[in-house]
Amino acid sequence: MTSGKSTHFGFRSVDEDEKSGKVAEVFHSVAQKYDVMNDLMSAGLHRLWKAFTVTRAAVRPGTKVLDIAGGTGDLARAFAQRAGAGGEVWLTDINASMLAVGRDRLLDRGLIIPVALCDAESLPFRNDYFDLVTVAFGLRNMTHKERALTEMFRVLKPGGRLMVLEFSRIWEPLRPAYDAYSFKVLPWLGERIAGDGASYRYLAESIRMHPDQDALRTMIEASGFERVRVFNLTAGVVALHEGTKL
Ligand SMILES: C[S@@+](CC[C@H](N)C(=O)[O-])C[C@H]1O[C@@H](n2cnc3c(N)ncnc32)[C@H](O)[C@@H]1O
Repeated sequence: MTSGKSTHFGFRSVDEDEKSGKVAEVFHSVAQKYDVMNDLMSAGLHRLWKAFTVTRAAVRPGTKVLDIAGGTGDLARAFAQRAGAGGEVWLTDINASMLAVGRDRLLDRGLIIPVALCDAESLPFRNDYFDLVTVAFGLRNMTHKERALTEMFRVLKPGGRLMVLEFSRIWEPLRPAYDAYSFKVLPWLGERIAGDGASYRYLAESIRMHPDQDALRTMIEASGFERVRVFNLTAGVVALHEGTKL
């Protein structure tokens, strides 16, 4: 039995009920090679985009942070180092393979933080709990983005902040070169390094289907957030959206 409603999975139209299973296949498949592929595909730029996010987050000792779709744990690790023993940083993801890699990486660095397998669209946390909620390169993969943003709003304390780091709309003159890179080089690299060109083709397609800077700002505001700010990074390849729950 399907919902009868359709959504996109990359450039394909699929039933809403099918999307999360297809996204799960992608991340189960790439989990072990996810970090090396991130460095290769972005020539290390993803580290700068995340470093910018960590700087803007300005996590202090004692801060409560929820990292959603946290995968292999880059942001959670940086936040845990800053929040210290008096803070609380959760690494969460819907995908057990990604979460296992993330948890092991954190343990290897001597960081023991709470980890939860959960869907951003239905968070197992109480209302008004976190000071900061982050989601990096995760929102794009969610079936009901508005539902997930509403959940993020719910679990934040009044005064708490949301940060969404995500691929966005590149500056138009660079688009042809970016398209050639995304649709030719990325799947080729994915096939060679991760043995999975299709997942990296999905990555390129899902970026094109994701709301651009203005559309995402509107969605974040519609979920209740105020003081929404947008930072374009690398000519809009990526954008950081920030919003506050007042
Ligand atoms: C591209 S990875 C990003 C991982 C990490 N945040 C980073 O920046 O490196 C996207 C992650 O989103 C997760 N994800 C997809 N849909 C989700 C959902 N509905 N709820 C929670 N996580 C989800 C995937 O399992 C995957 O680990």
